[in-house]
Amino acid sequence: MKNILVAGGAGYIGSHTVIELINAGYNPIIVDNLSNSKEESIKRVEGIVNKSLTFYKADVLDKDAMRKIFTTHSIDAVINFAGFKAVGESCQKPIEYYHNNIGGLIALVEVMREFNCKNLVFSSSATVYGDPESVPIKEDAKLSTTNPYGSTKLFIEYILKDICKADSSWNVAILRYFNPVGAHESGLIGEDPNGIPNNLCPYITKVAVGKLECLNIFGNDYDTKDGTGVRDFIHVVDLSKGHVLAVNKILENSGLVIVNLGTGTGYSVLEMVNTFSKVLGKEIPYKFAPRRPGDIGTCYADTTKAQEVLGFKATKTLEDMCRDALNFQLKNPNGYN
Ligand code: NAD
Ligand code: UFG
Repeated sequence: MKNILVAGGAGYIGSHTVIELINAGYNPIIVDNLSNSKEESIKRVEGIVNKSLTFYKADVLDKDAMRKIFTTHSIDAVINFAGFKAVGESCQKPIEYYHNNIGGLIALVEVMREFNCKNLVFSSSATVYGDPESVPIKEDAKLSTTNPYGSTKLFIEYILKDICKADSSWNVAILRYFNPVGAHESGLIGEDPNGIPNNLCPYITKVAVGKLECLNIFGNDYDTKDGTGVRDFIHVVDLSKGHVLAVNKILENSGLVIVNLGTGTGYSVLEMVNTFSKVLGKEIPYKFAPRRPGDIGTCYADTTKAQEVLGFKATKTLEDMCRDALNFQLKNPNGYN
């Protein structure tokens, strides 16, 4: 059985991916410093897959700790989810973001090279497309960045491209996620942000259960079907399956692969709110507010390449995303606490 080191595996996308790796016959080795997650998520995953998991509480920046893990286990490939991800916070704390995201990636690839493990899947983001010139967005679209978080993703992409250019024995999949939402259908794991959520979906679920009063919809004057922002929301379980396909691919000596992970369909913020209301069986209160600085109007993926290269196709609907997100919120009113 192949060992896949999952850095950041206690987090939102990582915990769901651990399940899909096990379903596909891989053995995940989880590493996380729990800076934005709780060990409880791993316990919940153990309950779902009905087996105990290997977990190390460690920081990817701590090369000695990582060396110990690589010495204990023969690692076939690494998926790196570890990083900070809040756009607004990155503008307040750019040094911390560059240190953790870029420093963490460099430390990780250094240790990987020492142990001759040169297979890596990296969590990038549609944020590297900046304000796209056209939609759907293809992988060869112009890249740009508007905030330190986005810059860390873009700079890491450049670093990984240079690594692959310099040494053709590296196999790297750069996955550009669109908007991951939803939760595992068990309702045992899901998105559990600290404090008041910044992102749309966790904010709506908190409004749905009365923990927050009303959703502010940031902007109703975009050039979109109903004036509100349009995004490519993708169910986190579909996204996680994309990681298994990416691991399969790099283990075939693929070299560098860069793909979008989205559904290819853009839904508006209002459509998302209405679908939540339908699933909940009552109206989600909302009001229109000014545009959020830095936001773009429309963003959705061209999924042709992901289908061609990985055989990836998202199957879950917007209703699935809303139902599963609500289920997690209802079953866990205080998140993992
Ligand atoms: P998350 O915060 O839930 O998961 C990241 C995990 O990494 C957390 O468990 C955190 O404790 C851990 N971590 C952070 N720094 C670490 C370090 N130095 N060493 C060890 N562990 C560390 O976030 P997520 O939503 O699961 O996102 C996973 C990845 O996907 C991130 O890199 C994020 O930037 C990227 N991404 C997320 C989204 C999104 O909307 N969720 C969109 C695009 C890209
Ligand atoms: N929105 C609201 N009200 C809210 C929160 C969001 O109206 O309370 C709107 C936003 O204005 C936007 C849409 O909902 O139009 C989606 O916003 P999110 O904050 O959920 O997501 P973003 O598209 O802004 O960004 C997310 C991640 C980024 C990542 C990007 C692409 O936060 O890190 O998806 O993957 F880069």
